[in-house]
Amino acid sequence: MVYDKTPDELSWLLNFFMKVDMFSALSPEELYEVVRHIRKTNYRKDDRIVEQGTAGDSFFIISKGTAKAILKKDHKTVELGVLGPDQFFGEMALILDQPRSATVMAAEDLECFVLLKTDFQLLVSKNPVFAKIVQTASKERSSKINKKN
Ligand code: CMP
Repeated sequence: MVYDKTPDELSWLLNFFMKVDMFSALSPEELYEVVRHIRKTNYRKDDRIVEQGTAGDSFFIISKGTAKAILKKDHKTVELGVLGPDQFFGEMALILDQPRSATVMAAEDLECFVLLKTDFQLLVSKNPVFAKIVQTASKERSSKINKKN
């Protein structure tokens, strides 16, 4: 899915993503493709962005603010981690083809860039550096969740 952007937005986004680690190995053409497919979304403090146990269709990169990942287990709630600018979430459901492993909520007002599942999967298949970063995070987060269960 391509989202329309003004030339100013495009140049701001290219500049932003050039500095994001996981996109560092992308060629300018590949980066341009990511930017065309990405959509900016804002959330208010305490908004629930993804909900544990539901199906996942998007991948999120934080540009401003912080979010926290929370695991619900046996009526208890465990905080798994806090994520800030340039960090991402929502990769596990897409990589492991499973429901959302945790709930992610805005710890303060939050701005994210969102990629749909098909665009995320295309990027994973085309870019080994990007694939390695998201797969490594997914494995680490998954093993942390398994230890809590
Ligand atoms: P997903 O399972 O798609 O949806 C919930 C997300 O929470 C998950 O992907 C991860 O991106 C994120 N998440 C899970 N565990 C952690 C953790 N320990 N630290 C930070 N984020 C996490």
